[in-house]
Amino acid sequence: MKINLILNGEDVTLAGDSDESLFEVLKRETPLFQTAVCCQKGTCGRCHLLLDGREVPSCLVPLYQARQREIITPEGFAHTDDHKLFRSLLDEEGLVFCTQCTDAQIFHLNAYIEQFPNPSDEELRAALSEIPCRCGSRPVLEKGLRRLIEIKEVGRAIRH
Ligand code: FES
Ligand code: FES
Repeated sequence: MKINLILNGEDVTLAGDSDESLFEVLKRETPLFQTAVCCQKGTCGRCHLLLDGREVPSCLVPLYQARQREIITPEGFAHTDDHKLFRSLLDEEGLVFCTQCTDAQIFHLNAYIEQFPNPSDEELRAALSEIPCRCGSRPVLEKGLRRLIEIKEVGRAIRH
């Protein structure tokens, strides 16, 4: 089957079997997701994207469900001011860039606080643990995320 969709702001056509995962098709038909080592089982978080604004693991989304939808991937998000702000906060906290998952972490955590702007400590740690990290970066990610939440709170207070 062939489907049309909007991928990072561009109209594209993707071809594949209808029950093939969106992740598999994006990896085969586009330059996206070429380097990450991914589980394809919904557990590593490295294939997450926004499907009409909702964060989903693309390895669990059949291709047909993406028809006529709008997709933003971590690569697309990387060009936004939100990404630049979060990345600069993490750099200030001393983040060591991890080629396997830093972009996925930034994407996931930003999507999370867009949906849940005032998480409790427990909720925030649960969100941080959704993408496995074995390199010890989680405390730095947590510090940067807490600063990002504060900045966004101030922004909302000024606007009201
Ligand atoms: S590839 Fe690991 S969650 Fe989708
Ligand atoms: S951020 Fe990739 S393993 Fe920790």
